[in-house]
Amino acid sequence: MLLGVLGSGSGSNLQAILDAIDAGTLDAKVVIVLSDHPDAYILERARLRGIPAHVIDCHGFRNKFPDEAQAAVASQLKGAGVELVCLAGFMRLVKAPLLHAFPNRILNIHPSLLPAFPGIAAWKQALEAGATETGCTVHQVDAGMDTGPVVMQEKLAILPDDTAESLHARIQEIEHRLYPAAIAKIATAN
Ligand code: GAR
Repeated sequence: MLLGVLGSGSGSNLQAILDAIDAGTLDAKVVIVLSDHPDAYILERARLRGIPAHVIDCHGFRNKFPDEAQAAVASQLKGAGVELVCLAGFMRLVKAPLLHAFPNRILNIHPSLLPAFPGIAAWKQALEAGATETGCTVHQVDAGMDTGPVVMQEKLAILPDDTAESLHARIQEIEHRLYPAAIAKIATAN
């Protein structure tokens, strides 16, 4: 299964996918990594592994992901032979041009038990809401923000002395196991 990974940040989930491939627990290959931030460490992680890594030109928009940029990304991914697109900390909303190019073939990982706490810094949202548990979710991407059919989900208790940092760190430990497992599940189902 040839993967294309899109991210905006440090890329620890990309690293977890690469580590699972190395360990033989995920039969896949990451063939391209794209980021909307030229300085995102996810690009460096890819380059260190010799994986083609490119910046997405969002035409100067800070948050928007214009249709022309989505179409350009779709053709870059197709050109690389990508069969499954993995959003790994990608913070722009995917819309029609990409969704149509990869129907039911785009996954996202989100640090909450969706549908609870979609959007930015979901672990902070959970703490501020006084929730006693949260977790993380891998789901298929549709046109909504952090919506679409759930592929895998895992719960985590919020501890009384949790801070935003400690909670996010514990969620990420789960993410790094869950995302490769969810990709393997999708890969073997097709
Ligand atoms: C992860 O916690 C991921 O779940 C979250 O961004 C972080 C990226 O970390 N994604 C979202 O909030 C999507 N709505 P990483 O760059 O180290 O993989």
